[in-house]
Amino acid sequence: MRAKHAFTLILILLLFGGGILLLFNDQKKGGSMTMELIKLPEPKKKGEVSLEEAIARRRSIRDFKDTAITIEALSQLLWAGQGVTDKINMFRSAPSAGALYPLEIYVVVANVFGLEQGIYKYKPTTHELLIHRIGNFRTKLMHEALWQEWMSRCPVIFVYSAVFERTTWKYGKRGVNYVFIEVGHSAQNVCLQSVALGLGATTVGAFSDEGVKKLVGMGSDEEPLYIIPIGVPLSKY
Ligand SMILES: Cc1cc2nc3c(=O)[nH]c(=O)nc-3n(C[C@H](O)[C@H](O)[C@H](O)COP(=O)(O)O)c2cc1C
Repeated sequence: MRAKHAFTLILILLLFGGGILLLFNDQKKGGSMTMELIKLPEPKKKGEVSLEEAIARRRSIRDFKDTAITIEALSQLLWAGQGVTDKINMFRSAPSAGALYPLEIYVVVANVFGLEQGIYKYKPTTHELLIHRIGNFRTKLMHEALWQEWMSRCPVIFVYSAVFERTTWKYGKRGVNYVFIEVGHSAQNVCLQSVALGLGATTVGAFSDEGVKKLVGMGSDEEPLYIIPIGVPLSKY
């Protein structure tokens, strides 16, 4: 009888210990982070607006309805900016010197159906959003962008950053130019995709680097480069 009790006790200890070990291992591998990843809907590869029409119609739009956008639209905009378009080589929608991909896109979400307000980071390789910060950061971001009041009606605001080192380790000082060129490529894709979706966007370069970096919570190796507020235009354009 005593032997049976001892056996049960050992079994319980083994199961409990194993559970703790598994949990610890999961956290070490970043397993707990998977809880905070949101799979985005598959982006479309065909649309109703031609490229020529999108180029012809693109304008900087600053008058928005205070209306939500869908997660499908957000998914499409992120794919246009940095999505993987060649799954064999993992090449992306915008060209990148040496395919070194120094850009990151943070999304300040204020009004997207089905998404909590917060700051998310786009993961191009898996087409997912990583929850970065929870809360409403739109007005605070507008303050950091020199009080450009019109930004406060945008359901989403993209904030581009770059890890320059990803490019400069190979190309030296010239790599700095490459990173600035790349953000232009990517931002143009987002602007044209906005037109094709019936949305409006404006690229914003006037902001406090330090303020935006701190507000978004960028790493010490990242620098903010460009902001794109996107929303539902007040009138057709
Ligand atoms: C690098 C860059 C920075 C810009 N920064 C701002 C900005 O901070 N605020 C803003 O309202 N527009 C900004 N713009 C948008 C320009 O004002 C706009 O492109 C210009 O007036 C031409 O209008 P269009 O885009 O409709 O052709 C910026 C554009 C570029 C290319």
